[in-house]
Parts: sequence; structure tokens; C-alpha cells
Amino acid sequence: MLKDKVAIVTGATSGIGAATARLFAESGAKVMMSGRNVERGKVCMDAAREAAGEGGEAAFLAGDVADSGFCDRLVAAAVERFGRLDILVNNAGVIHRTGILETTDADWLEAMAINVNALFFLSRAAIRQMKEQGAGGAIVNVSSEWGVAGAHGHIAYGASKGAVVNFTRSLALDHAADGIRVNCLCPGEVRTPMLEGGAKSRFGDVEGGLAKLSENIPMRRISDPIEQARAIRFLASDESSYMTGSIVVNDGGNTAG
Ligand SMILES: NC(=O)c1ccc[n+]([C@@H]2O[C@H](COP(=O)([O-])OP(=O)(O)OC[C@H]3O[C@@H](n4cnc5c(N)ncnc54)[C@H](OP(=O)(O)O)[C@@H]3O)[C@@H](O)[C@H]2O)c1
Repeated sequence: MLKDKVAIVTGATSGIGAATARLFAESGAKVMMSGRNVERGKVCMDAAREAAGEGGEAAFLAGDVADSGFCDRLVAAAVERFGRLDILVNNAGVIHRTGILETTDADWLEAMAINVNALFFLSRAAIRQMKEQGAGGAIVNVSSEWGVAGAHGHIAYGASKGAVVNFTRSLALDHAADGIRVNCLCPGEVRTPMLEGGAKSRFGDVEGGLAKLSENIPMRRISDPIEQARAIRFLASDESSYMTGSIVVNDGGNTAG
């Protein structure tokens, strides 16, 4: 499905990003993975390499996507290693589980730096490259169900994920005529270290907390990261060739009501 495509996946050292990089490699893409944790990065890169189908490959570059210079280097590294860039998945993200009175300046700025600024830095570098190649491209931004609905008790996260939704639409309009499609995935609850951390802090233990969270989801279960990865692959591939500026919710029905 992604044969010979070159993709960057951020936040590929854990959760949704690791599953996406693996699925992309398995689908024939050459994947430049990134994250800050070198040890987990190596484990996830090895898993992607093992899954790689015909033509699939994986490499890893460690760094902080809140740093504009690193984002430029990440795009340059993908091009240097694999010769071009077709797909950018802006997936890295952080969460602060606080309302406005408990949110520090540092927390707010960190949420904006990683969840919003990084998308600007990386998309700018990617679009420069894609335009130079002249063959279009696809950008998939990972927001959240809380990008399209209020996030009770998560003020910085909710604001940042809402920004991702409208960043997607605006960027899509600017580059539709270049053949560069920009779409957004809004996951619901997904079993990753991010959600497990939330379940533990809210309910005291991970399994009990996840069971409690499941009770309130119309489908009565938490999503597996692969279910998000498949939706990301769809938005990144030619299967979604007429979609741009789309906000795709993948949440077991959470925001349907
Ligand atoms: N899990 C959910 O229920 C859920 C629901 C809706 C939306 N989402 C969104 O889905 C995306 C992935 O979340 P996840 O659940 O897979 O989270 P996760 O398991 O906590 O993984 C987050 C990833 O982001 C990377 N990252 C964070 N800050 C970074 C930085 N400054 N520079 C580079 N990489 C950074 C982490 O890399 P290192 O650890 O190596 O730094 C890690 O690979 C996020 O945007 C999140 O908001 C998740």
C-alpha cells in the first residue's frame, strides 16, 4: 500500500507512532522514525525493520521536535537516507492533566511547543521538500477527540489539539493545488503509555482505570494502537487520494453523541 514511499513518523518510540512506523514498513515504505529516547527508538526501529515487507526499511533519528533546527535536520536526514520525502506523520505529543489553575507557564508552553509548534516546523520543512520534488505528498497530523470537543481538566492539551485541527484545514487549503494533502486523525482512548499514565493517576491502577474508562465508550473498549495506525496509513496513502483538510475521528463512538 505504501510501496516505495518515503515517510517520516514522529513519536515513533512509543504507542501510536511505533505501531504506525511498523505498519508503514510492513506496507513497503521507507520510514525515518524519530523520538527523544534512543533506547526505545532502537527497539522500535528493530521491530519496524523486522516487519518490513518488500522494499520496506526503517531508520531512527533522535531529537526534540520542539526544536526548529532538529525538525529541519529530520527532514534532511530522511532525504539523505532515502532520496526523497512523500509522507509526514506529525504524531509526537504530550499531555498535562490539569485545569487552568494548576497549569504552570512551563506546562502550557511545553504543550504548545510539542503539540503545535513542532507541526509548523516539520510541515514547513516537509512542504519545501515536497514542492521541490513536484510530485505532491501527504501530511497526517495526530490530534485527539479532544481536538473536536472540550477536554475537561486538560486545558493546555485541549487547546493544543484544537489548534492541530485548524492548522490541518488551513495548510490543506494552501497546498491542495500542489497535490500535497493534509489530513488529521482524532483518536479516542488508545492503549499506550500516555493513556496508561492517565488511568494510573486518575484511578490508582492501570487495569482498573482502563476498565472504568471503557465503560463510558459506546463500543465499550479501548482502541489498540494498530487501529489508529491503520487509519493513519489510509490518510497517508493514495487510498485517500481525494481527501484533504479532513478531520477523521477514530474514537469508538465517543464524540458521536
Ligand atoms: N493514547 C491516547 O489515548 C491518545 C488519544 C488521543 C490522541 N493521542 C495522541 O496520539 C499521539 C501519540 O500518543 P501516544 O498515546 O502514542 O503517546 P506516547 O505513548 O506517550 O508516545 C508519545 C511519543 O511522542 C514522543 N515525543 C513527545 N515529546 C517529544 C518531543 N519533544 N520530541 C520528540 N518526540 C517527542 C515520545 O518520544 P520519546 O518518549 O522518545 O521522547 C513518544 O514517542 C499524541 O499526539 C497524542 O496526543 C493519544
